[in-house]
Amino acid sequence: MTKSTQEPTKICCLGAGYVGGPTMAMIAHKCPEIDVHVVDLNPDRIAQWNSEKLPVYEPGLYDVVKQARGRNLRFTTDVPGAIREANMCFISVNTPTKTFGIGAGRAANLEFVEKCARTIAENSDSDKVVVEKSTLPVRTAESVKRILSSHSAKVKFDVLSNPEFLAEGTAMEDLRDPDRILIGGDSSAAIEKLADVYKNWVPNDKIIRTNLWSSELSKLTANAFLAQRVSSINAISALCEATGADVDEVAGAIGTDSRIGPKFLKASVGFGGSCFQKDILNLVYLCEHFGLPEVAQYWEQVVKMNDYQKYRFSTRIVKKMFNTVSNKKIAIWGFAFKKDTNDTRESAAIYVCRDLLEERAKLTIYDPKVDIDQIRRDLAYLIAGPNGELTEVQKELLQTHVTVAKSAEEAADGAHAIALMTEWDEFKDADFDSIYQSMMKPAFVFDGRNVLDSQKLSGIGFDIESIGKA
Ligand code: UDX
Ligand code: ADP
Repeated sequence: MTKSTQEPTKICCLGAGYVGGPTMAMIAHKCPEIDVHVVDLNPDRIAQWNSEKLPVYEPGLYDVVKQARGRNLRFTTDVPGAIREANMCFISVNTPTKTFGIGAGRAANLEFVEKCARTIAENSDSDKVVVEKSTLPVRTAESVKRILSSHSAKVKFDVLSNPEFLAEGTAMEDLRDPDRILIGGDSSAAIEKLADVYKNWVPNDKIIRTNLWSSELSKLTANAFLAQRVSSINAISALCEATGADVDEVAGAIGTDSRIGPKFLKASVGFGGSCFQKDILNLVYLCEHFGLPEVAQYWEQVVKMNDYQKYRFSTRIVKKMFNTVSNKKIAIWGFAFKKDTNDTRESAAIYVCRDLLEERAKLTIYDPKVDIDQIRRDLAYLIAGPNGELTEVQKELLQTHVTVAKSAEEAADGAHAIALMTEWDEFKDADFDSIYQSMMKPAFVFDGRNVLDSQKLSGIGFDIESIGKA
């Protein structure tokens, strides 16, 4: 006997990461009558969600968690228990790019999603709506459905795709007032059940209903378009540096065209984050799989341009510093992939640090929210390369050439250069007069985000280099 689907909604979310944690906190906050149970296999992560120092740094998140935690929001490692109690299960686990086997370097690794589907199937004795929150390749829902339905004929599963469009650093605002909620599925009853959750705070006309495949593909497409804008302006930044045009002026001028719009035109050292590169590579893989090599190459160029932009930045540093940075101290300001997050996944800073370490620069890294262990792990991972083993020389280099500072000023003390990698607000307000005094001369600043006042810094005596400015 299966239970009725008319009972009050009870949610279980598998995966307490950057997406699952904030999204579920907002649902619990906005829907006090819905029980929201967030589970994760990682006990440390769950312990942090239950503490005062959450594993995810996101402005406004702690207040929302604190309010709902212990009322209708729970974080535990009891995956089977949470599934059994729930009638709606979100899958919000990581889907990194595959590093092995078929599709390595392009396709998404779906082992965590598949494991979730199996765990849900094994622990379900009542009907459930299963919601894909993770960004997934088109037609993943098909596999999820098959796994679920092959387990028990007695229990009915409806699979929905409900991609999350939040951007890190503004996640709480994005969740509170989303541009749209997208729900894809083939059961309108299931779609409406999920729409009812969002209708607690999102107007119905912002809730878009589509078929499953359109929903899955829309998420990949949205990220591909956004990343393409960044790569486009970054491509123009290279031309600006060569011609004497100013990329911020160009972006300002074209952004006033209402068809282009002003957002996402900020030239930078390159985009990072867990989504853009991964989703484009995933799109590229899908296109190749479906026999569309021209389409695949078109999108792949967005990622290649981003790699070029990161490399161009490292090379510019070396060239400007008289073609050698060997044993010169360089302050790295910011390590997160953007401001207001502690997330470092695919951060441009990791790549630039790797290039500078290859040139034997001595790096002193400061980021207000990323901890030392994370910085060291990220560098070791990238430097080790695909086999994952560090050579003795590489280990030594990481020991002797990387230190982590407690402030931007401390990082810059005695340095030949500052490389600004993340646009944290505090960098704009730094005391550049005293920083200049403490640095070696000429004192270089490489502004990878175009956030510093270059005229003011030049006036102090700095030799400042910005993106897309000759
Ligand atoms: C992105 C999408 O914006 C979001 O909708 C999706 O759900 C997840 O992926 P996120 O990666 O968190 O969000 O941040 P986003 O603000 O999109 O920035 C991505 C990268 O692009 C960052 O490294 C950012 O610094 C860079 N960027 C963004 C630029 O370099 N210039 C810009 O104009 C905008
Ligand atoms: P995202 O940015 O997509 O939220 P994260 O890596 O931050 O990705 O979070 C994904 C979380 O999913 C991790 O905390 C991981 O431990 C968790 N996870 C992975 N597989 C499972 C699973 N089968 N059941 C529960 N949690 C899982």
